[in-house]
Amino acid sequence: MAKGKFITFEGGEGSGKSTQIKLLVQSLKEAGIDVLQTREPGGSPGAEIIRHLLVEGDPDQWDGLTEALLNYSARHEHLRETVQPALEAGKWVVSDRFADSTFAYQGYGHGLDLETIRRLHELVVGDFKPDLTLILDVPVDIGLSRAASRNDQEDRYERMDIEFHERVRQGFLEIAKKDPGRCIVIDASGDQDQINSEINAMILVQLDVNVT
Ligand code: TMP
Repeated sequence: MAKGKFITFEGGEGSGKSTQIKLLVQSLKEAGIDVLQTREPGGSPGAEIIRHLLVEGDPDQWDGLTEALLNYSARHEHLRETVQPALEAGKWVVSDRFADSTFAYQGYGHGLDLETIRRLHELVVGDFKPDLTLILDVPVDIGLSRAASRNDQEDRYERMDIEFHERVRQGFLEIAKKDPGRCIVIDASGDQDQINSEINAMILVQLDVNVT
């Protein structure tokens, strides 16, 4: 059976990923594609338990290495329980975050050595990678104020200082520069319909599927 495509969305806090993922998943379904929407950390029963440890509570409760280990534990579960079976069944998988978030947040953000993350990545993910990664880029002050207006418990990262979030943003841009074949940076500070049109155009160019 044909293997499905794996699309990931990345970006800092309040970059508008949820809205754009919803629009894309709807358009892909309308184009007749069998699509599964998922997220990290999380996306499988075990990984969702680990998610609580990461996104709730005191910003200082873990250091960068512990966060990376927790994220890669969750990722292992997510890959084996959710992502791989869906791709093997020919579905497309759209994930709200994947491994680039660990490089951006734990690596560039917390200063964990990138080589350490690469070693964990090799162990858990090997050479599997997304077919397309859309990085929604937004100035940190705009993103954080959008995120603050959401009233949820999952605010551990939002409470980290602004310099941390600036490093995360630069990290994503650096990742995109190093892997231009896979990563597309989208200016996500503007109008949602305009961003949606840009994403649809990228799906046509990169994956040869016409969505509107
Ligand atoms: P979300 O708010 O976009 O659902 O993501 C949850 C938080 O987890 C977000 O602040 C980014 C963070 N995160 C990491 O720090 N490292 C990772 O590897 C992943 C997947 C997420």
